[in-house]
Amino acid sequence: MTCAPGLKLVDRDAGGVDLAFRADVLAGLAEPQKAIPARWFYDDEGSQLFEDITQLPEYYPTRAETEILTQRSGDIANLIGPGWAVVEFGSGSSVKTPLLLSAIAPSAYVPLDIAGDFLRASSAALSAKFPELPVWPVEADFMRRVELPVEVADLPKLGFFPGSTIGNMIARTATDLLRSMRETLGEGALLLIGMDLVKDEDVLLAAYDDAQGVTAKFNCNLLHRINRELDADIPVASFAHEARWNDVFARVEMHLVAREDVSFTVSGQRFAMRAGESIHTENSHKFTKRSAQQLLAAGGWEPRARWTDEAKRFSLVLAESRPPRSAP
Ligand code: TRP
Repeated sequence: MTCAPGLKLVDRDAGGVDLAFRADVLAGLAEPQKAIPARWFYDDEGSQLFEDITQLPEYYPTRAETEILTQRSGDIANLIGPGWAVVEFGSGSSVKTPLLLSAIAPSAYVPLDIAGDFLRASSAALSAKFPELPVWPVEADFMRRVELPVEVADLPKLGFFPGSTIGNMIARTATDLLRSMRETLGEGALLLIGMDLVKDEDVLLAAYDDAQGVTAKFNCNLLHRINRELDADIPVASFAHEARWNDVFARVEMHLVAREDVSFTVSGQRFAMRAGESIHTENSHKFTKRSAQQLLAAGGWEPRARWTDEAKRFSLVLAESRPPRSAP
């Protein structure tokens, strides 16, 4: 088969239903603790709501990480130096990528994203800002090893993974990702990774349950999306958004809680929930200096430097790829 430009990564049935979405929702709703993978938040509406979340007064992570990249740019540039191919895991639509790129004088920029349209749009915007910088976008699922463009084969690689997105994975998945990042980036690579920090529970919960209700809308949009795309009749008004602190796993969890007994159909399958029962939709793990170091080490990365914002809410860690060793 040819690699025609129209060839889609998404499998759909004759009715246009995204088969992976349906499979994930049906399997997740059948579990004792109902759960739906967070990747399904991001339809057009969800992506826009997420952009709105990053602007909320309660949502400190974006501002804190931006503060680090701005205030510590001299320090960061000195440690990293010029000439790197910056490989971003997820295509940078934010202000963070330009901040990094203008700080360190890289030789190329390689954004990786599974959403092709999004990738092309943000690559074009970035090229406009940095006309001299070669940009080589790659449409790929970065949870597995990615073949980088031959044009950057001889350049040293700096991975960039901002936003504490690593915290949205459970430890096992996060470790798998850190390891495949090592394989993608190759020997001698560096990784600059954002990791949100454990802090006062009220501050954490407010960041995921804002007063304006934008995060609630973001969470509830998942139910609307299921109704729209999977021929479902979930009574959305009977659900409430809830952010919970799980102290055992040091994470904020987002749930959609049934406010009364409900029953509904999704793609012909019947489900029932008791009042108070929930659908778990997101985890956002929070780290300490130690737990961050330990996770990175498990994935084959050794921290070389670490910066926080003034209020010590968020950390940016620069780590170096390490070959496996069994000696102490
Ligand atoms: N990784 C960020 C965080 O956990 C952004 C994020 C992912 C997020 N999913 C979210 C923020 C859901 C709010 C709600 O904070």
